[in-house]
Amino acid sequence: MKKILFAASESVPFIKTGGLADVVGSLPKELDPAFYDVRVILPKYSCMKQAVKDRMQFVTSFYMDFNWKNEYVGLLTAKEGNVTFYFIDNEYYFSGDKVYTDSPVWEIERYAYFSKAVLSALPVLDFRPDLIHCHDWQTGLIPVYLKERFASNPFFGGIKTVMTIHNLKFQGVWDVKTVAGITGLSASYFTPDKLEFHRDADLLKGGLVYADAITTVSPTYAEEIKTPFYGEGLDGLMNARANSLRGILNGIDYDTFNPSGDRYITHPYDAISFRKEKVKNKRDLQQQLGLEEDDKVMMIGMVSRLTDQKGFDLISYVMDELCQDAVQIVVLGTGEERYENMFRHFDWKYNSRVSANICYSEELSHRIYASSDVFLMPSLFEPCGLSQLMALRYGTIPVVRETGGLKDTVEPYNEFQGTGTGFSFTNYNAHEMLRTIRYAERVFYDRKREWNKMIDRAMAADFSWKRSAEKYQEMYDWLIG
Ligand code: ADP
Ligand code: GLC
Repeated sequence: MKKILFAASESVPFIKTGGLADVVGSLPKELDPAFYDVRVILPKYSCMKQAVKDRMQFVTSFYMDFNWKNEYVGLLTAKEGNVTFYFIDNEYYFSGDKVYTDSPVWEIERYAYFSKAVLSALPVLDFRPDLIHCHDWQTGLIPVYLKERFASNPFFGGIKTVMTIHNLKFQGVWDVKTVAGITGLSASYFTPDKLEFHRDADLLKGGLVYADAITTVSPTYAEEIKTPFYGEGLDGLMNARANSLRGILNGIDYDTFNPSGDRYITHPYDAISFRKEKVKNKRDLQQQLGLEEDDKVMMIGMVSRLTDQKGFDLISYVMDELCQDAVQIVVLGTGEERYENMFRHFDWKYNSRVSANICYSEELSHRIYASSDVFLMPSLFEPCGLSQLMALRYGTIPVVRETGGLKDTVEPYNEFQGTGTGFSFTNYNAHEMLRTIRYAERVFYDRKREWNKMIDRAMAADFSWKRSAEKYQEMYDWLIG
């Protein structure tokens, strides 16, 4: 039995702000339990829902030297299906009403604490993983600490590490002096071949230098991050480690996202019944959100963090023009204030046709995936993207920019060959996006049979975890031997 520990800052069903949580929560249970004992370790945040906190059981606690102090480390556990979750409890670091704060240096201190606590907890839990699978910058110090202060303890001998990049944009960067103080790492670690990044200290870079293997969440993003445009200053390192870097496409949980068994939607449907049933969900959503009730109008859905990454500047640039078309627009998301306000403004201006929902809601997100005709995702960059996979699963046709995982998962419509599962455009240009949406409108309004065949293909596409889980297993086997 190979023992694997996932370390991350979020995971469904305990806490989620984005796709990272979906991946960390759904991949472990897809790995073959006959060969892999996979466990997950997360921080215990005060802002977790009471219902999930109630599921956690206290295991033990100890004190750990950290940042010149003796810090409390509480350990809790909960089972989710077959998978054991552990939680690191420390109120000083993980209280507050949000998962992440706006202070970069505080974030570094919180997750440096978490990374050290994860390793310190293993002997206490009597769990020696063969491999620690680290996700994103928050866990970047784990491979570093493992090779540094934990290396002399035989318990840790031979533990392998994988660093998965879900988003290279976030690296955990601050000045060397402060980071050296917080982490306790000696000056020799802050050189350009290790944690130093343009004179600062970079936690993700540490993970990428010291991990035994690196993955990211789509083959195209794995190529893109070797270029200056997408490399976020680490393209040189990505090229240097190209032999250890692979892109493995994310999957989604086909039980949670299942149009025929979704408890959040009013009219469940499948690949056959969508022709009659899907539109009933649209009708209900129009009513719920106070939109004009019209079966025939094309509904464009968006469920997203409202950030530059997702291409919202393109949308804001042509939003007024788009609203002149025969479309309804439904948005669900939170994020940058200017985008929140932009959508509030258009909701006010075109009240019967635009609905801005500036909040986080699992339930509404499922309703939007099920009810919309088109799902818009014109990202500037997209390591993988799960929303377009959810849209495909619900027979909602994605309109995307050809980047990262969007390029790998949405096959552009070819009207001559009758192929494709969505619409895409190449350049980061607002009018190119608008032209593509308008092309989709023409097919939707004028060639309904073709549109429905596209839905057939979208719903038949398979982005469940099966294939990707096998690729992770192959990598684990190769590393652990
Ligand atoms: P990212 O991780 O970059 O935010 P992904 O497409 O990989 O993008 O994953 C986003 C996930 O977060 C999806 O499961 C999506 O449904 C969900 N999501 C984003 N914003 C909201 C929101 N406001 N309410 C509910 N779910 C949301
Ligand atoms: C990140 C990326 C997104 C990806 C998700 C899960 O948040 O922005 O593209 O799908 O991680 O890997």
